[in-house]
Amino acid sequence: MTQPQPNKSYENVRMGVDYYPEHWDEEMWEKDIALMKSSGVAVVRVGEFAWSRMEPRDGEFEFGWLDRALDLFARYGIDVVIGTPTHTPPRWLTAKHPDVLPILPSGAVYQPGVRGHRCFNSRSLRHYGERLIGRLAERYAKHPAVVGWQTDNEFGMLDSQSAQAAEDFRDWVYRKYGTLDNLNREWGTVVWSGEYSEWSEVTPPLGGSPYQNPSFLLDFARFQWETVADFQNGQIAAIRAHCPDHFVTHNFHSYPQRLDLYKVGEALDFASFDYYPNTSPDKAATSPYSGALSLDATRGVKRRNFWIMEQLSGSPGAWMPMWRMPQPGYIRAYVWQAIARGADTVVHFRWRSAHIGAEQFWHGLIDHSNVPGRRLAEFAETSGEVRRLAPLLEGTSPEAQVAILMSHEQLEALRIQKQTDNFDYYENLKEYHRALTKLGIGCDVIDWRQPLDGYRVVVAPHLYLLDDEAAERLSRFAADGGTLLLTARTGVKNLNNVCVMQPLPGLLADCAGVAVREYDPLGRDVVRLDAEDGEQYACSQWADILDPAPGGRTEVLARYGGPVFFAGEAAVTRHAFGHGETYYLGTHPEEEYLRALLLRIAQERGLPHAEGLPAGVQVSVRAGASGAYLFVLNLSRETRRFRLGGAYAEAAGGEGLLGGRRHSGGELELKPYGVEIFRF
Ligand code: GLA
Repeated sequence: MTQPQPNKSYENVRMGVDYYPEHWDEEMWEKDIALMKSSGVAVVRVGEFAWSRMEPRDGEFEFGWLDRALDLFARYGIDVVIGTPTHTPPRWLTAKHPDVLPILPSGAVYQPGVRGHRCFNSRSLRHYGERLIGRLAERYAKHPAVVGWQTDNEFGMLDSQSAQAAEDFRDWVYRKYGTLDNLNREWGTVVWSGEYSEWSEVTPPLGGSPYQNPSFLLDFARFQWETVADFQNGQIAAIRAHCPDHFVTHNFHSYPQRLDLYKVGEALDFASFDYYPNTSPDKAATSPYSGALSLDATRGVKRRNFWIMEQLSGSPGAWMPMWRMPQPGYIRAYVWQAIARGADTVVHFRWRSAHIGAEQFWHGLIDHSNVPGRRLAEFAETSGEVRRLAPLLEGTSPEAQVAILMSHEQLEALRIQKQTDNFDYYENLKEYHRALTKLGIGCDVIDWRQPLDGYRVVVAPHLYLLDDEAAERLSRFAADGGTLLLTARTGVKNLNNVCVMQPLPGLLADCAGVAVREYDPLGRDVVRLDAEDGEQYACSQWADILDPAPGGRTEVLARYGGPVFFAGEAAVTRHAFGHGETYYLGTHPEEEYLRALLLRIAQERGLPHAEGLPAGVQVSVRAGASGAYLFVLNLSRETRRFRLGGAYAEAAGGEGLLGGRRHSGGELELKPYGVEIFRF
């Protein structure tokens, strides 16, 4: 069967808002929509929580209100994305079919009253959800405003232990292992008398203790990834049956997610992200960098441009005490950061702050007073800029010669068995990404299973679980001329989460050109790291004591120092491997060291990078048929004056597309949250 071809309106660079017509008197709608139009809103998302309005009672569908809202959007030329409302099953459904509700690991029922109370294994949820989605898709397939769909809302893992989840898990395990002998062997259930003698004994991890068999826990996570993907597939089939030319996306959120985004992303046309950079001054130094990673990671889900489906518009609250209000320039700067890293459409959450319900203090563009103010004005100004530059930016995307490998399997396995007190897979990955970002080196963040063609440098933190396929692919990448960077806790286990009985880094030992003789889990203890160039740094979390492989092709780049029993032993190495090279970092060095190492690699490999980037200033490039665009963003709370050195010095000397100022190769001055874009 050929894959339906959705309209490509998702490639438009434009702005939008999230709107909840069901929250407001109908008399307000047209005035709202007219103001949206004049503020530059080109697309809205509606509907993702409105099940009780669409189907107030079993089988009684009421779409009149939605027809009227969508007709108004069509009249004003605003595109609409409909969210499927399965995140909030209505009360009649949960009362009639309690199996819709997840059972939490504690054994408690996840009660209705907030949201997210849906067990992905529930057949009732699937039946009623797909019935409603089918009706919606049929009704709006030809509606002139509707261009696409969002599945559910912010998928995550619930570890539901419902009877249906248990049955589905048992089937999944049976399909994977076939016999109880296989299962018992692969999971190593002999430990603590955990052997299964009947399939009926296989259950989800009841009680939720983190100390249960790690092989079993990892498989339970994998089962849930497939469950969510399958749940979503049901929705997508219901949509595509009527709307083959509509696109389908999902709004991912809050990384890291335990849910495997790549699995859930497979069936989507593109990924979306809900982007809420932290407005607190004490997060000002870190939030722009973790945000940059979230954006790059979202682009990596489909290895293509993406949307922001919810973008910060005002002070967030409700789920926590309110954060600071975004200061002038903040909304605009973060729109440009998202676009710089590959967002095409940026949809803001939300048009107006809710005056009812639990999220009253998660602020929208307009305050409760309904008096349009500073934030809407900034949005409108930014929309104007985005509209002006869209013809240039459409069809462009970030290009990278560096990839960071992200793996939900590693994330989950390292969550199940935390290695040391201070060891965190995603936090460490963040540090590599931050070091690259501070050097102005664009990078993709992709699933560790993806092909590596086209990259010159691959950073692969903590490939704790390995199989032959991954080890061969990575070894081939290095042997064929790539630079591969491996870290401590590589090759420790097989994919069943079982430790391998061979010297680490296991299947990658040849490629790395080292053997781990012994290790010391440092945790929060800090050890000196003496680089061969005489510089001293600090490292923590972990210390692999490395033996370079015989043959002289492995060079020691740093050794442990200070009063530790392994002082003088190798900590960081470089192995000349085939036509390429493999770096092995046996410890977690401080960021300064990572930056120095990555700068050295960038210089040796001729990777474009920036010099002299002050704290909080980020650069990135989008390129395509219309040219290349350098985005320079000051995401700090202070004015930054600096001279942009390195690969982008010349580009930044040209005419800025936003300010229209000339910088003639001299210093750039960017006010707090100031942005400039240069064509080169
Ligand atoms: C999430 C949800 C939205 C809203 C915002 C703000 O991202 O998808 O519905 O709740 O958070 O809390």
